[in-house]
Amino acid sequence: MSTTMLILSLLHLLILALIPSTSGNTCRSFCGNVTIDYPFALHSGCGHPGFRDLLYCINDVLMFHISSGSYRVLEIDYAYQSLTLHDPHMSTCDTIVLGAKGNGFAVEHWRAPYMNPTSDNVFMLIGCSAQSPLFQGFPGKHLPCRNVSGMSCEDYYGCPAWDLLGHRMVGSKFGSGPPECCAVPFEAIKSVNLTQLQCEGYSSAYSLAPLRLDGAHGWSYGIRVKYSVQENDEFCRACEATGGTCGYGTDGIRQLCMCGSSNSTSNCDSVKSSSRRTYSKAHTVTGLLVCLLAWIAKNYY
Ligand SMILES: *[C@@H]1O[C@H](CO)[C@@H](O)[C@H](O)[C@H]1NC(C)=O
Ligand SMILES: *[C@@H]1O[C@H](CO)[C@@H](O)[C@H](O)[C@H]1NC(C)=O
Ligand SMILES: *[C@@H]1O[C@H](CO)[C@@H](O)[C@H](O)[C@H]1NC(C)=O
Ligand SMILES: *[C@@H]1O[C@H](CO)[C@@H](O)[C@H](O)[C@H]1NC(C)=O
Repeated sequence: MSTTMLILSLLHLLILALIPSTSGNTCRSFCGNVTIDYPFALHSGCGHPGFRDLLYCINDVLMFHISSGSYRVLEIDYAYQSLTLHDPHMSTCDTIVLGAKGNGFAVEHWRAPYMNPTSDNVFMLIGCSAQSPLFQGFPGKHLPCRNVSGMSCEDYYGCPAWDLLGHRMVGSKFGSGPPECCAVPFEAIKSVNLTQLQCEGYSSAYSLAPLRLDGAHGWSYGIRVKYSVQENDEFCRACEATGGTCGYGTDGIRQLCMCGSSNSTSNCDSVKSSSRRTYSKAHTVTGLLVCLLAWIAKNYY
C-alpha cells in the first residue's frame, strides 16, 4: 500500500469516527404526500405493535392491509386520530358495485382494540339476502337498519347510481322482502363481511360537514377509522421526551425505546451513561488516529 493510500484510508476512518451516531427519528417517513408517524410506521420494529404489518407504500401509494383486504389510505389525521380508507370495490353515489367484490371491513382479533370505523361512519349494505344474519333474530321484525349521523338509505336511493339499477322501494319492515339497502353503524355489526352477511355490495360514507348539504351527493365516500393506542401510551411519551424513537421488539408485543445505538425497555435516560461511554471511546479513537497521521506525515514528507 502506498503512503498516500494509507493516509487516505486513515482519513476515511477518522471521518467515520467523527460522525456522531444518528439519533434522529428514523421511523418517521413519507409515502407520496402522506406523513407516516407514530403509532404507524413502514418499517418493522417501528411504531406501536398494534399497528405492525399494517401500512405498505407501493409506488407512492399508501396501502392499509387487514384481514378483510387492502385499502388505499387517503388521509391520516393525527390530531383526530383517524384515517380515511378507500376500497375500489365500494359503491358510491356514481356507481354500484355488485357481486360481493368489496372488502367490507373486518380486522384481526388482536388488532380490534386499536381501530374501529367511527360512529358517524355509515355502512350501507346492498342487496342482502332475506336469510342474511342482518335480518334474523330481531323481535317484532324490526330491522337493524337506521339513519347514521343523518345519513340514510332513503338519501342514498337519490344517487344516480340507483337510476341505472332501477331499484324498487321496499318498506322498512321485514315481511315485504328485505330492503335493498340497509344502513348501519359499525358498532351494530362489529364486522362488515359481505360473504357472512350475504350481501351483494356495500357503500361507506361519512359526513364532515355538520349540515347535510345536498343529500348523498354531499357525503364523502370512504371508511373513516378511529385509531387509538389504548393504555394512554405513557411508554412512548417518556421515550420521546428522552430523545428516543418508539418501536417494538421482535416478539411484536413488547414496546421498545430506540436510543441511537441501543434499545431500552424503558426510556433513553437509562442508557445515557452507556452512550456517553461510547462517545468518549470515539474521541479516544479519533485522538489516536490524529497522532498516527501526524507521525506518518512527519516521517514521509
Ligand atoms: C395528496 O395527493 C393527492 C393526489 O396524489 C391529492 O388528491 C391530495 O389532496 C393530497 N393531499 C394532501 C394533504 O396534500
Ligand atoms: C433496536 O430495535 C429495533 C426494532 O426492533 C431493531 O431493528 C434494532 O436492530 C435494535 N437495535 C439494537 C442496537 O439492538
Ligand atoms: C367472512 O365470512 C366468511 C364466511 O363466514 C369467512 O369464511 C371469512 O373468513 C370471513 N372473512 C373475514 C375477513 O373475516
Ligand atoms: C332517516 O332520515 C330520513 C330523511 O333523510 C327520514 O325520512 C327517515 O324517516 C329517517 N329514518 C329513520 C328510521 O329515522
